[in-house]
Amino acid sequence: MNAVIEVKDLVKEYMIAKKGRGLRGSIRSLLMPKKTKVCAVDGISFSIAAGEIVGYIGPNGAGKSTTIKMLTGILHPTSGSVRVCGISPQEDRKAVVGKLGVVFGQRTQLYWDLRLGESFELLRRIYQIDKAAYEASLAVLSDVLKLDEFIDTPVRQLSLGQRMRGDLAAAMLHEPSVLFLDEPTIGLDADAKHAIRGFIKEMNRERGLTVILTTHDLDDVEQLCSRLVVVNHGRVVEDGPIDAIIAKLTPHRLLVAELERPCEDLDLDHPAATIVRQEGLKVWYQFEKSRITAAELIADLSGKLPIRDLSVKEPDIEDAIREVYKTT
Ligand SMILES: Nc1ncnc2c1ncn2[C@@H]1O[C@H](COP(=O)(O)OP(=O)(O)OP(=O)(O)O)[C@@H](O)[C@H]1O
Ligand SMILES: [Mg+2]
Repeated sequence: MNAVIEVKDLVKEYMIAKKGRGLRGSIRSLLMPKKTKVCAVDGISFSIAAGEIVGYIGPNGAGKSTTIKMLTGILHPTSGSVRVCGISPQEDRKAVVGKLGVVFGQRTQLYWDLRLGESFELLRRIYQIDKAAYEASLAVLSDVLKLDEFIDTPVRQLSLGQRMRGDLAAAMLHEPSVLFLDEPTIGLDADAKHAIRGFIKEMNRERGLTVILTTHDLDDVEQLCSRLVVVNHGRVVEDGPIDAIIAKLTPHRLLVAELERPCEDLDLDHPAATIVRQEGLKVWYQFEKSRITAAELIADLSGKLPIRDLSVKEPDIEDAIREVYKTT
């Protein structure tokens, strides 16, 4: 594999002040703060090939943002190694910054007091982007992200969706080959999310951009990523194609039956099928697809109960993620 990002045995420990108990403890901890260790990233390894869009997901506090910060060189690892395009962000941050773009949805790299266009010009100078290359790049980005309507608006007056489009453009001005996105659609409405997902897809398709995407929005994951790296408690718990992860984590299907009239005995007497929910005339049967097929189950049911309607629900990414978060 032609790895663009390589992460090996990455560890990040934070030292945090431990609070004392009671008034005396609080005074003591103010004077002599006791430190305790939090292991935010606990031995993470993965590698990502050129042109992949990988969803880096996990529950709150799993260590996602901490990993991204080490990949971009903002944070120093406690141990382990990171390589972006073959370069260590810790050894040569400047060279790595030239190769990657970063967007943190909760923060902006634009300047509140400047107009959006002026913000870009300032970033051009900071990153020392050649004027002609910058203008060509901005023209493409303006077109795809429809920046024209608000390019002369002060950043502080932009709506969240406009600001996020501005931030994406800012991250791409120097035409990086890797883009890190930490919750790029947080707080956005459906239209703005759609615009941002479209932009990511287009940059990936047209420029072969490699993307690591951290998000809690499973529609982002479903629409953009072919592969997931799932982390929990600072460790990788799943890494693979989305379909394989769903298949592995959700061996069950649901059959929803609506009855003609109330019935006493709804049980199917089959060890692989159990009733998991019932509401009025509706009954939800969960079954293991490796032990009984939907067709067999439907035949059994129709022979026994007066059925008005039937539907089978395939598990989706949401079901799979719920399983990961439940079991780890
Ligand atoms: N600067 C810091 N100092 C001390 N502890 C920190 C610091 N930053 C993060 N942590 C802790 O490290 C752990 C991982 O945090 P991180 O922000 O990487 O999680 P995350 O996966 O991005 O979560 P979220 O989905 O909520 O954004 C958490 O327990 C957090 O409290
Ligand atoms: Mg985070």
